[in-house]
Amino acid sequence: MNSVAAVRGNPLVGIVMGSDSDWPVLRAAAMTLKDFGIAYEARVLSAHRTPDAALDYAESAAGRGIKVLIGAAGGAAHLAGVLAAKTELPVLGVPMPSKHLQGLDSLLAMVQMPGGIPVATFAIGEAGATNAALFAVAMLALNDPDLARKLSLFRQGQTEKVLAKTLPDLP
Ligand code: RP5
Repeated sequence: MNSVAAVRGNPLVGIVMGSDSDWPVLRAAAMTLKDFGIAYEARVLSAHRTPDAALDYAESAAGRGIKVLIGAAGGAAHLAGVLAAKTELPVLGVPMPSKHLQGLDSLLAMVQMPGGIPVATFAIGEAGATNAALFAVAMLALNDPDLARKLSLFRQGQTEKVLAKTLPDLP
């Protein structure tokens, strides 16, 4: 799944995950970006298993037109921090659910960055993947009025869906 571009054009968002086993969760980020018409690329790169490639990717991302990175990993989840160490682009971290600690290890490894190199860390799992993508949309929308309108419509639609919900009567 390396370098999947779901929307035509130069990718603006780089989704990087530590393993292809993270993809079922990261699909939520990719789908969200696709829904907003934002070109992205998705790569499998690991802070531990492919450290040089992860560093190269981060270092070259801005020069290739990428504006935001989403870094997702599980367990000893260093990937987002390693990416952030090599780029000044904003890095959004998504902790993956893990086998033994249900993602708490991933969350703490990712969120506890020492001061100086930020990783904006989101919720564990699919909600985090969706919100990281929505956050990327919000950042890109600052300089893109059409995208800002799409984001407003998305929020409005979401509000309307919630307000239209009804609960079943008790028997
Ligand atoms: C991390 O280790 C990956 O991000 C993944 O969440 C976890 C397990 O990877 P696999 O053993 O499934 O490849 O680096």
